[in-house]
Amino acid sequence: MKATTIDGKAIAAKVRAELKERAATFAATAGRKVGLAVILVGENPASKIYVRNKVTACEEAGIVSSAYHLPADTPECKVTELIEQLNADKHTDGILVQLPLPEHMDEKRVLSHISPRKDVDGFHAVNAGNLLLGNGCLAACTPQGCIELIKSTGVRIAGKHAVVVGRSNIVGKPMAMLLLQNDATVTVAHSKTADLKSITRQADILVVAVGKKEFITGDMIKPDAVVIDVGMNRVDGKLYGDVAFEQAADIASFITPVPGGVGPMTIAMLLSNTVTAAEQHA
Ligand code: GUN
Repeated sequence: MKATTIDGKAIAAKVRAELKERAATFAATAGRKVGLAVILVGENPASKIYVRNKVTACEEAGIVSSAYHLPADTPECKVTELIEQLNADKHTDGILVQLPLPEHMDEKRVLSHISPRKDVDGFHAVNAGNLLLGNGCLAACTPQGCIELIKSTGVRIAGKHAVVVGRSNIVGKPMAMLLLQNDATVTVAHSKTADLKSITRQADILVVAVGKKEFITGDMIKPDAVVIDVGMNRVDGKLYGDVAFEQAADIASFITPVPGGVGPMTIAMLLSNTVTAAEQHA
């Protein structure tokens, strides 16, 4: 039987409708709207689309967004000065620096300037560390979205073997931490993992974030697994996931499509972190 496709768009729409209400309650009590600042440096075409989508989503949720588009040759100190200004701005609840930054900048150093209280991407060492320790924190958006998608299937995470393929700071590592928090037994695999197939075939829950078109084939999937595809690989103008969807759908019980799976949830979780940051500052 074909796997059920997880409708990330519909689930994200529901989350966004709930957030709109929370943002309205905040505005009524605080006397101002929730505010998100988005910083984009340079002309990366994909980043421009992502930023536009984030700004539009904010507007729809009743969140005020301020977009700062700086030229690619902006010195790093100008970006960090802007971040410091926004840290001090009472109307800015969240600050997002769109990645990747131009090569002359040190991404980690730039991100370290964002106040952890306004770090709605969850990339600051304080938030990443608190996630590791199981403390309250602003957690990375894409992994949070993946957890919501897994929960939407009704499949219990506790006790399951979850395999995360990819170990980035943005997805793989925080994903593993969130799955652990939800009582999964977690394996993190990556580009140097030997015999990857023998590992992925053990996964009751398989989360793939490697950035390689259709890298995971049907034979690498355990029957009835829940498959979450974080990949967004644009080839000749078409978008592909990291999972060969048709093959995987013949084996898995639930699977996310690309597009329309994880992507919409990342934005919904960004809005969620922004409203949470506002509520915590109030
Ligand atoms: N670039 C790719 N994904 C992301 C993300 O989730 N946040 C930011 N800031 N930049 C990204």
